[in-house]
Amino acid sequence: METQLARPAFLQSDGPVLLQGAMDMEIRPYVEALQDPVKTVLGDFVFWQGRLGRQRAVLSRTGIGTAAAAAATALGCQVFRPAAILNQGSAGGYGLKARVGDLVIGTSVYNGNAVFTDKEGVRYLDLGRLEHETAAAAVFPAKPPLLEPDAAMTRWLFAGLSAYAGRVSQGVIASSDQWNDDPDLIARREALTGALCEEMEAAAVVMTAARFGVPCGLVRVLSNNNRTGQPFDPAVCGKLAAAVCRLFA
Ligand code: 5AD
Repeated sequence: METQLARPAFLQSDGPVLLQGAMDMEIRPYVEALQDPVKTVLGDFVFWQGRLGRQRAVLSRTGIGTAAAAAATALGCQVFRPAAILNQGSAGGYGLKARVGDLVIGTSVYNGNAVFTDKEGVRYLDLGRLEHETAAAAVFPAKPPLLEPDAAMTRWLFAGLSAYAGRVSQGVIASSDQWNDDPDLIARREALTGALCEEMEAAAVVMTAARFGVPCGLVRVLSNNNRTGQPFDPAVCGKLAAAVCRLFA
């Protein structure tokens, strides 16, 4: 029996959900499902307004990486005034048991670009603290500080995607302008941070969404696992999109 999920507050307001994908393969399935689409192009950032089921939506092709994702998020927030942001797409699994097609819902994310190095090696920077020039910013932690997406959206994603045909995990996402293909390095990262997967946009989206006061949720489908040598499978993007579209049906 299909249970109707309680519609969360962020989707009961008038504002649309800003649904993001970095690459065409990650946003195209939603564009094909969108009713009454209206396309807007700003620079090379493409947005499509319309409806996904009962939900007003603005689809956004952000481009790859932190700079593009931050810019697309700022533009999307300023121009379309979303009630919530859903950043979704592909990711590389970290765990030995992580399989292509599994889902990861981000309960937190870290910015792997924000590093401090000296003769001792690599530590992490808390950019928010640095910006506010607090004394604590001068203490560089050995583990990356975690950024939090919206807890209610995260719970809603986990509940709504529980029927997904594949494993659904929730936990830390590693986010940076890096593609790591060294199993030993991935194993060290996993041990240090507990990250379940890596991708290139989520940290930038969470940081930018916070500047606009817009709640943000993160869901990724594993498209590859460079720890275990599973190659990139683009087909999983459509599988995730089908599951996310059912959340709005
Ligand atoms: N490492 C980094 N990014 C990945 N992506 C998928 N798999 C990986 C991986 N192993 C995502 C990024 C980016 C694009 C290259 O795919 O988020 O948008």
